[in-house]
Amino acid sequence: MHDPHPPAPSPASRRGGETAPLPRSAGEGQGEGAVPDTFEPSIAGTPAGIIDRPTNGSVVFAHPSEREFARILDFYRVPWRYEPRSFVLKARGERILEMFSPDFYLPELDQYFELTTLRQRLVTKKNRKLRLLRELYPYINVRLLYRKDYQELLAKYGFGPAELTWPEAEALRTEAGAERILCSQAELASTVRRLGETLTRDYTDRPPIMIGLLKGVSFFLADLIRQVDLPVEIDFMAISALGNGGGSGGAVRIVKDLDLDIYGRHVVLVEDIVDTGMTLRYILGHLERRQPASLEVCTLLDKRARRLAPVEIRYVGVELADEFVVGYGLDYHQRFRNLPFLATFGPERYRPDPTA
Ligand code: IMP
Ligand code: MG
Repeated sequence: MHDPHPPAPSPASRRGGETAPLPRSAGEGQGEGAVPDTFEPSIAGTPAGIIDRPTNGSVVFAHPSEREFARILDFYRVPWRYEPRSFVLKARGERILEMFSPDFYLPELDQYFELTTLRQRLVTKKNRKLRLLRELYPYINVRLLYRKDYQELLAKYGFGPAELTWPEAEALRTEAGAERILCSQAELASTVRRLGETLTRDYTDRPPIMIGLLKGVSFFLADLIRQVDLPVEIDFMAISALGNGGGSGGAVRIVKDLDLDIYGRHVVLVEDIVDTGMTLRYILGHLERRQPASLEVCTLLDKRARRLAPVEIRYVGVELADEFVVGYGLDYHQRFRNLPFLATFGPERYRPDPTA
């Protein structure tokens, strides 16, 4: 009845006898010899060979490593597009025989990336496609990216090793679900330098006493005074935290007062962040009663949008939107102060720390 040894080739090739080229699907292009090699101009390597792919809202990643890469890019605020274009690698006329769609395109770098795992078979295959792509479209920048290469890439954006590989930074991204870096180490350093230069200029003939409110500001203050080229003095104050219930139990009070006498002196109150302004207002009132010659405020971060008490701030490092931030002295339940950069927490994690 039936042939016990059916021939293996596909039905198309069994039609037999036909001389016309057989339709082939786009792909690796096996069975080259089956198609007569008639010369037809190919769209491969021409502008027509670059095909924009539709972007329909949400991205569906083909591989978890792609999702992770996208998360890291978001965290570092690097814009990206997922598989935005296909490049025709082989075609007969307009008939596409092989294409390649790199995983990511980063507009700011004008660079495509193909992510890869460590499986050698896949790497070899991808390398072949990349070689073809580079030959056909020499003006396109494309790179094969291993996981370790992420770091090298992000270093281009000024993120140092601490941001990228320090376990506490990793914990911030994964466990704590922090959203993105707001200021890298390099950005903080330049902000602090700018503030220091301004203070140096403004206080040339009247070296100030710079006062910090513990504890968060100690990081900023330490860096700031090293950018102030004047014989400055420093002092610290500490105020009581609200009760752990998070309510408004008990009035704020000073638990550590100044050691220095500020009467008749020029004073700069240094803050890490001004949020509602309530803390600052209370402290300014306290300092004014000691009759300094002048009193100004210098804050690294200003969340102006959340201000309740009007306070005048002369020196502002960075103005923030209404978002909760950690790092560079700022904490979330006492953690993450030691991060050398500033990162934001997701809104669902916005829980002002009552013990701060
Ligand atoms: P204010 O009295 O509302 O201006 O509170 C300022 C204090 O709240 C700061 O000194 C911080 O201790 C804390 N704080 C406000 N916003 C943040 C934040 O985004 N991250 C960490 N601490 C914050
Ligand atoms: Mg892909």
